[in-house]
Amino acid sequence: MSKARKIIEEVLSEGRNFLLESEAKMVIADYGIPVTKFEIATNEDEAVEAANRIGYPVVMKILSPDIIHKSDVGGVKLNLKNDQEVRQAFKEIIENVRKFKSDADIRGVTVQEMAPEPVAEVIVGMTKDPQFGPAIMFGLGGIFVEVLKDVSFRIAPLTAYDAREMIQEIKGYPVLTGIRGRPPADIDTLVNIILNVSKLVMEIEEIDQLDLNPIFAYSKGAKTVDARIILSKPEE
Ligand SMILES: Nc1ncnc2c1ncn2[C@@H]1O[C@H](COP(=O)(O)OP(=O)(O)OP(=O)(O)O)[C@@H](O)[C@H]1O
Ligand SMILES: [Mg+2]
Repeated sequence: MSKARKIIEEVLSEGRNFLLESEAKMVIADYGIPVTKFEIATNEDEAVEAANRIGYPVVMKILSPDIIHKSDVGGVKLNLKNDQEVRQAFKEIIENVRKFKSDADIRGVTVQEMAPEPVAEVIVGMTKDPQFGPAIMFGLGGIFVEVLKDVSFRIAPLTAYDAREMIQEIKGYPVLTGIRGRPPADIDTLVNIILNVSKLVMEIEEIDQLDLNPIFAYSKGAKTVDARIILSKPEE
């Protein structure tokens, strides 16, 4: 059984239909999709040790099945530069989450490498079309998706040709080829991410929705910064 499938089975056996960020990142990493390095810590000391292994600066985020929007509840701390900031952040995150939901099931925090500023932020998503099956979406992050709805869609399984077309046909494509002195993004890496998402959702049919948002795109490589995966309910 693949690592990805094993994680999905464990989540379902727990009676959950959505993956924690750490689980979602392990699933996509198993399909060759680049993610931010991370470790799980359940107390301050573990967080400090993890931060030192990963290297400063780090990001810390709440790890709880009761928290869907981590930053909304004060569950995300960026750019932590030393052990003391990590200890402080750990206390604050737990306190913020407890304030939001006193009986929240807190599994710990993820300590992550702080991904450097990207050339562009992109999103790769998947929703299931009742008639055609998995529909893969590509777009630029932030206002491009939320306000301008500048996205492209294809039904999986995709070829490399399809994936490249999806990227090229969004209106914001020039943002990825380098405008106003900005370096171009690594389009080949983005093509591969889209292809691997297609492969993942074709092979693991239990995945009902997937959202890699944001993916930081660089002139060489890319990093998935946040990932959400929702499974179809067993009774469906
Ligand atoms: N490892 C990281 N490196 C760099 N920046 C990060 C990292 N993790 C998160 N961020 C930044 O913090 C933002 C919020 O993080 P994240 O998306 O994980 O939280 P969230 O609660 O899911 O937010 P939202 O609900 O708005 O998507 C990201 O959009 C990104 O800009
Ligand atoms: Mg997010």
